[in-house]
Amino acid sequence: MTFDLFRSTHKAIWDQLEKIPGPEPSFPLGNISDFSGQPAWEVCASYAKRFGGVTKIWLAGTPALVLNDPKIIGDVLGSQDDRYYKDAPHDALAPIITAENMFIANGATWQYGRSHSPFSYPVFAGWLDKIFPILQQFVRRRIRQTTGEIPDLIAWVRRLCYDAFSLAIWGELLGDNSYSQFMELAIAGNHRMLGLPVLQKIPPLSPEFYLRRSHWYEDFETRVAKAKSNPDPSANHLLGLTLEAGSMLTTQQLANQFSAPVYFGGVFSMASSIVYTLWCLNNAQSYCAVLKQDLGKLDRFDESQISLPLVECLSLDHALREALRLHPPVPLYFRNTNPRLQVDVGGHPVPPNTMLFISNWYLQRYSQHWDLPMEYMPQRWTDGGTQRNPLGSDYFFPFGRGPRTCIGQAFGMFFMKIAIAELLRAETLTLDPQWSLQSDYFFAVQHPKGLKATI
Ligand code: HEM
Repeated sequence: MTFDLFRSTHKAIWDQLEKIPGPEPSFPLGNISDFSGQPAWEVCASYAKRFGGVTKIWLAGTPALVLNDPKIIGDVLGSQDDRYYKDAPHDALAPIITAENMFIANGATWQYGRSHSPFSYPVFAGWLDKIFPILQQFVRRRIRQTTGEIPDLIAWVRRLCYDAFSLAIWGELLGDNSYSQFMELAIAGNHRMLGLPVLQKIPPLSPEFYLRRSHWYEDFETRVAKAKSNPDPSANHLLGLTLEAGSMLTTQQLANQFSAPVYFGGVFSMASSIVYTLWCLNNAQSYCAVLKQDLGKLDRFDESQISLPLVECLSLDHALREALRLHPPVPLYFRNTNPRLQVDVGGHPVPPNTMLFISNWYLQRYSQHWDLPMEYMPQRWTDGGTQRNPLGSDYFFPFGRGPRTCIGQAFGMFFMKIAIAELLRAETLTLDPQWSLQSDYFFAVQHPKGLKATI
């Protein structure tokens, strides 16, 4: 009855999209209720099992497609990216991370942001080697300074990541105030992202929010201005290296590039993967013993030589890749079809500006591609596993695919390996044995919820 009412109310679009399979909508909300009470990416995976690689759903009276077909996802994110753009989560995040942030920008603004990101500059490659010992020593020190129970490991690791970024990019820690302002901005953004895309301007932001926001951003502008007026040719941090190499960006542009895309893009996702990996390894004791042995062998290298061996340590690399496969921190994101073009998706003509849900969750656990997909098996990456499934390929794209692939992928893999290795080497980290897997979702990133640890 409500289905008939829904169909007759939206008859014109209904007829156009009739051939695309999908769950039955009901009047007036369509399929929105499917998404209440369970993670959206699990709902998307359940559609794949019932309807195949392209599923039509209705967000009230607006149709959207859920994609679970690797070829179509590859086209949308890759070769045909001019036909699609990133709409969500622009409205939710623009006031928080700025509309120019490449994470939400499109067209020329995105192109400019991406090509002028410090992560795209030639200084980037040399920087990783330079900051390796600094970050390694920093993580060791932080572990030594922590004793007793950590009530929520994810919170501790987020702060570790925030501070590591600050050292690597700005050359110093930014302190408690900066971190709490950052978290307040993230909480505001998170509230706005939890709603449906059409509700992303809710809740509105308060004058206090704008005050904190300007404090957080102004601090970066002051730092860039200071670094410009007192150049330090011996600096190892990314800002110093970028200024040394010469940059066309203004103080404000540099401050923006070195702050929001990095901290909001990296802190939550890296913390999530570090904790998922530690937890998975804790449940795979024999693999973990081999990994610790490998890390022990690296300790015998001269410290100044250690960078490459650690980052290239295969057992560590495989442990991290496998956690990224099984527990991708960013399991769902969106594109829209170009509002000015008639676009076919998977051979189906769809109305302009149709929203597409893109998830790696189903494909990274797809049983016809992955043997025992629900098992944590780092060994699957040996013997050509990595070459068969490189980052950004059909069944493994935790950092996305195509031209908008995560710009922090190389730094992310680099720092996550350092952090995981140091936490394992410390031999003093114990995870709560009573904890069973529960995940939460914050700022578009899923992460382990409430895992206690002791150092
Ligand atoms: C485990 C770590 C990380 C994961 C899983 C991850 C995941 C992703 C994914 C899936 C995308 C693509 C989103 C889309 O296509 O809509 C993305 C984009 C992005 N990520 Fe990451 N990320 C990680 C770490 C980082 C780090 C460390 C940084 C910063 C240094 C960062 C900054 C960004 C930025 C700026 C974009 C937007 C790129 C663009 O649109 O051109 N991410 N990330």
